[in-house]
Order: sequence, then C-alpha cells, then structure tokens
Amino acid sequence: MNIALITGASSGMGMEFARQLDRSLHKTDEIWLLARRREPMEELARTLQHKTQIIAMDVTLDSAVKQFAEVLAISNPKITVLVNCAGVGKYGKFAHQSDEEVSNMMQLNIVALTRMTKLCLPYMRRGSKIIQLASGAAFVPQKAFAVYAASKAYVYSLSRALNKELAERGIRVMAVCPGPVNTPFLSRAYGEDSNIGRLKKLATMEAESVVNKAVMDCKRGKSVSVCGLPMKALYYATQGIQNLLCKFT
Ligand SMILES: NC(=O)c1ccc[n+]([C@@H]2O[C@H](COP(=O)([O-])OP(=O)(O)OC[C@H]3O[C@@H](n4cnc5c(N)ncnc54)[C@H](OP(=O)(O)O)[C@@H]3O)[C@@H](O)[C@H]2O)c1
Repeated sequence: MNIALITGASSGMGMEFARQLDRSLHKTDEIWLLARRREPMEELARTLQHKTQIIAMDVTLDSAVKQFAEVLAISNPKITVLVNCAGVGKYGKFAHQSDEEVSNMMQLNIVALTRMTKLCLPYMRRGSKIIQLASGAAFVPQKAFAVYAASKAYVYSLSRALNKELAERGIRVMAVCPGPVNTPFLSRAYGEDSNIGRLKKLATMEAESVVNKAVMDCKRGKSVSVCGLPMKALYYATQGIQNLLCKFT
C-alpha cells in the first residue's frame, strides 16, 4: 500500500498540502493525516478523494511515537511522500520566554521532525519524497524570534544534507522556506493583536500559493522551495555561497 503522510494536517499548510496532494497524487492509495486535534482532520478527510487514515497524536510524546512506529511496522506501507508540517513559533525576547515555550519549539520543530523523518525512512523507496517545512527564518538569525529561527536553520540544514545523503537511494528531500503565511500560526506566534511588523504583514502570502509552489518544486526535484520575491531575494543574498559549496560537498 502506497501512502502519503502529512504531519500538522489539522491546520494551515498541512491541511493545504493534503488538499493539493489529494489532487496530484495518482499512485498513492491513502493519505495519512497526523496532528493532535482529530476533528479538523475528520472534516478535511470528508473533502478528499483519497482514502484517509487519521492519526491523532502528539508527535513530541515518546509513547505516541512508539505507538506510531508499531502502526507502521504492522501495516508496512510504502511512504511515497512525507510532509513534516507540524511546527510552532513563539515571538518574544529569549530572556522573557518561558522554559515551556522554548522547549516546545525545540521539541516539535527539531526533535519530533527528526524522529518522524528517521522513523519513515525504512518505508521509503526510490522516488519517495520528503518535504520539510523550514522557513525563511532559517536564512538569517532573528532577534525576538531566536529559538524559532534557529530551529528552522536546523531543519533547513538537515534537509539539504539528507537530500545529498539519500540521493543514492533515489529519495529526495526538499526544504520549504516561506516568509509569513496567512495561517493560525501567525496569531499563535505573535498574539491575537498581532505584533507582526508592517514589512512582514506586507510580505504575508496565502497557504495555497506557498503549497502550490512547493508541490511543483518537489515534482521538479528541487532541494529548496522559496515562494515570493522578498523571500527569493533574501535566499539568494544569504545562501549564494552556501549553494555553491553544497554542489561540491
Ligand atoms: N505560517 C507561517 O507564517 C509560517 C512561515 C514559515 C514556516 N512555517 C512553518 O510551516 C509549518 C506549518 O505551519 P502553519 O502555518 O501551517 O501552522 P499552523 O496552522 O499553526 O499548523 C501547525 C500544525 O502543527 C500541529 N501540531 C502542533 N503541535 C503538534 C504536536 N505536538 N503534535 C502533532 N502536531 C502538532 C497543529 O495541529 P494540532 O494543534 O491539532 O496538534 C497544526 O496542524 C510549521 O512548521 C511552521 O513553523 C510557517
């Protein structure tokens, strides 16, 4: 059985990936939707053509990840696409953030994403794809978004390295690096009254176009997907030399 697995599928870009992959994946039997909240995933599932499995779990919990590993071992699927969308950001000065806020970002954005990637790899074959939600925040350290930006720099670096490492197995890894995207993430990160600066507000994009670009870039075999002019400018300005070096490592 061929499956696509999407984490963070109860909201924002994860939901949008489910909708767009539902239309574009023809050799995939089921789409597995994973997040903590079951209800929005059930609602989403009703609108999809593919058969779906809903996995309501907290990816930061050891026990839940172990259970999910058992589910994979029993059903032994071929994972054609893994989209790691589950992520969280909390705006604010490092010294003022609670231990819990800092730990949540690291546990979800770094540890859980890495574990899910490692867990799914044995079920991937030549042609399988891994799409990792990094961020434009990966390109430059950001004051008052320090841990979040650093966590996304990790995702970006991991993805690019794995893309090289897994090439011999025919598995591609792509980092998606959007600027601000109009999803519930923004109010969770910046608060309801939105501390988001004017520039960021102007550069905010819709999930539909970011995901559409990511799905197309993934088909084209790109290692990084960057949507919108401001983010592209930042990407080329900051990653130019690294891209060159990446070709030779
Ligand atoms: N929106 C932006 O401006 C933006 C920009 C650049 C990058 N990104 C990145 O893109 C990804 C998707 O963001 P989004 O904008 O779609 O955010 P979102 O709408 O807030 O969605 C986040 C998703 O993560 C899930 N999640 C959170 N904690 C979880 C946990 N412990 N276990 C399992 N699932 C969990 C949430 O579902 P439950 O609450 O149901 O668990 C939700 O489905 C994130 O990695 C984010 O960092 C976002």
